[in-house]
Amino acid sequence: MTHPSIVILTGAGISAESGLGTFRDEGGLWAQHRIEDVATPEGFARNPTLVVDFYNARRAQAHEAVPNAGHAALARLQAEHKGEVLLVTQNVDSLHEKAGGSDVVHMHGELASALCSNCGHRWTAPLHMEVGEACPTCAQPTARPDIVWFGEIPYHMERIEAALAQADIFAAIGTSGNVYPAAGFVQMARYVGARTVEMNLDPSQTVDLFEDTRPGKASETVPQWVDDVLNG
Ligand code: OAD
Repeated sequence: MTHPSIVILTGAGISAESGLGTFRDEGGLWAQHRIEDVATPEGFARNPTLVVDFYNARRAQAHEAVPNAGHAALARLQAEHKGEVLLVTQNVDSLHEKAGGSDVVHMHGELASALCSNCGHRWTAPLHMEVGEACPTCAQPTARPDIVWFGEIPYHMERIEAALAQADIFAAIGTSGNVYPAAGFVQMARYVGARTVEMNLDPSQTVDLFEDTRPGKASETVPQWVDDVLNG
């Protein structure tokens, strides 16, 4: 296996050391906000101001954040590895891109993007979105944050599943394994015989499915793992 095909899944834990809060750790975002209120289509229909404000605050925070050594190591892997590397993230921040990552697959959407719920058009979100902003294409007041909410279908699943079907190595980094379909990727990778590695501070819900587990901070475990992969 000279140039293995690699699929990487990242979650909130990789951005934790850049100062962005995770969801389910103590004091995390889901301890401060109800998922039903800020991360569902029904919550948005009930109180769009609350939801737009929630993502405005997160966008402002993400805008200031700088990538850490974990993001940088993955960008280095993408640049230097001669085989395929698909970098899939559940994160809505742009820290992989800021670190120099290329072709980052945002399966849960992006803070940097706005979506028209009327015509499906996407455009660059302003730092501060207003409720009922007009879509630049259809002119309807139907702009929303381009975030995949609970009850909605994650983006780019065909591409991700195709890459998993060819994977020789699957790595999950900084994700608790609570949210499907992402939490099921390790099963798909195992099915095709890929080597599986988890890098997480605490063991995830699916830790038993990984053959290699590397506990610790992403800023330390990820550069080490990238060195291991690049050195064969
Ligand atoms: P979680 O908050 O569920 O899990 C974050 C994981 O990162 C935990 O298992 C921590 O142990 C780990 N962690 C924390 N700090 C770390 C560090 N410095 N280095 C390495 N690991 C660290 O976040 P996700 O699994 O990403 O979806 O959550 C998945 C999805 O649930 C999110 O994309 C979001 C959320 O609801 C939507 O909003 C649709």
